[in-house]
Amino acid sequence: MEHIVILDFGSQYTQVIARRIRECQVFCLIKAYNTPAAELAAQKPAGLILSGGPASVYAEKAPLPDPGIFELGVPVLGICYGMQLLAHFLGGRVERGQRREYGKGLLTVTDNESRLFKGLPPEFQVWNSHGDRLTRLPTGFKTVAITANSPHAAIEHRRKKMFGLQFHPEVVHTPRGMEILSNFVHGICGCGRGWTMRNYIEQAVEEIRQQVGRERVILGLSGGVDSSVAAALIHRAIGDQLTCIFVNNGVLRQGEAETVRQVFGRNFKIRLHYEDASRLFLGRLKGVTDPERKRKIIGRTFIEVFDAATRRAGKARFLAQGTLYPDVIESVPIGGNPAALIKSHHNVGGLPKRMKFQLVEPLKCLFKDEVRRLGSELGLPKEIVYRQPFPGPGLAVRILGEVTPRRLEILRHADAIVVEEMKATGWYYRIWQSFAVLLPVRSVGVMGDERTYDYTIAVRAVESQDGMTADWVKLPYDLLERLSNRIINEVNGVNRVVLDISSKPPATIEWE
Ligand code: XMP
Repeated sequence: MEHIVILDFGSQYTQVIARRIRECQVFCLIKAYNTPAAELAAQKPAGLILSGGPASVYAEKAPLPDPGIFELGVPVLGICYGMQLLAHFLGGRVERGQRREYGKGLLTVTDNESRLFKGLPPEFQVWNSHGDRLTRLPTGFKTVAITANSPHAAIEHRRKKMFGLQFHPEVVHTPRGMEILSNFVHGICGCGRGWTMRNYIEQAVEEIRQQVGRERVILGLSGGVDSSVAAALIHRAIGDQLTCIFVNNGVLRQGEAETVRQVFGRNFKIRLHYEDASRLFLGRLKGVTDPERKRKIIGRTFIEVFDAATRRAGKARFLAQGTLYPDVIESVPIGGNPAALIKSHHNVGGLPKRMKFQLVEPLKCLFKDEVRRLGSELGLPKEIVYRQPFPGPGLAVRILGEVTPRRLEILRHADAIVVEEMKATGWYYRIWQSFAVLLPVRSVGVMGDERTYDYTIAVRAVESQDGMTADWVKLPYDLLERLSNRIINEVNGVNRVVLDISSKPPATIEWE
């Protein structure tokens, strides 16, 4: 398939570049910086992008590409560190800057023939990242744009279609950056606009049918975005050969089990095994207060229940999973892979060895925003497609101390009010997560003429890109007031509502 390859030199923006290219409706893949040129030649990308990175080309362990990549004859765009690499390998000179400087700058295009800046004004804002600087152009290159601080803000070798940018076109602080990337992938690499979710469905359906043949597939449905979209897509491909298993672990949110059964069982008519194991889970959680033990009990019990359910569902050769692209990118360790880190600290720690399945992972090359678009295209309701992340161990990590049926009832009700109000005001869809936490602390209050001695609910609302860092959201006072009034008035057993104003780090998103 027509695609662009991004070589990853460890920039925190590598995935952002990839998402921008896909927004241009061009497929792209992220590959390790040292991918052999021969491997790339065999895959025939339409162009290469060299990402930025924290290193200096002169550093001892600087990540360097296979020099053969400059001989592939395909257009190359080097961004920031990627531009230093062009200089380093192609006869230019890079000198060590005193310090790294980030910030807004005004770019002046000095060569209006440059195809990279086609359709752009002569001056526009860019987001700079000055580290090392270019002091001699690589052979055959010329400068096509400057900023106040960099005399070579953009360079190009017109005949070889090689380009270097000192600034970051992929970030939002370079408002016209998308046009530059579009000029590169469409104008210079000649890519069409074939990457749409509608096309993707056709292709994925075909591939799933090929892979699965007449065999049966099992999928563990959690009600979250990824497994839901995977289920809808696989069902489109193979219908009743797919069986979904949905486990009620007793610590779900209000109405969750009902929604899943409604959407998948009744609307989509997917074969759905609903396992209500809530009594088993809650029995095992009785008296347990340690957060790690709670997680372990839930994880182990889930595997047990899921295993038994798959056996009851009949023999299947395949297990489907909603793995996403950020989980599988072969990334350089510099900076790490945030998405992979989130997943490692929880969730099913692998199914028992004797459950031998081959995997079906139809979302493996998609980013989250693409998965949401795919879900909408497949006809899943907004309620599922735009769902906020929810931890596998569910409300158990949002009730501090022991999980009891009474506490669950209180938290479910309070959480439902938070979700309802957040949705009604549109805030739900703008932020990463918003939820209620039950603190097993009781304090005195008055209701009518009576003294109360009840629990506290903490409201947590955070913004985040990937869950690794987060900041608390400054929700409007009138919304907070409504949340507080409604929770205290409507939820029996709560007489105080507090707002969590901690960022991560040092706090975490969940309280546990
Ligand atoms: P923390 O609390 O570590 O959470 O700041 C980071 C993100 O991960 C989610 N989370 C989980 N997701 N299973 C999941 O699927 C889990 O066990 C789990 N624990 C935390 C959390 O909701 C937040 O988005």
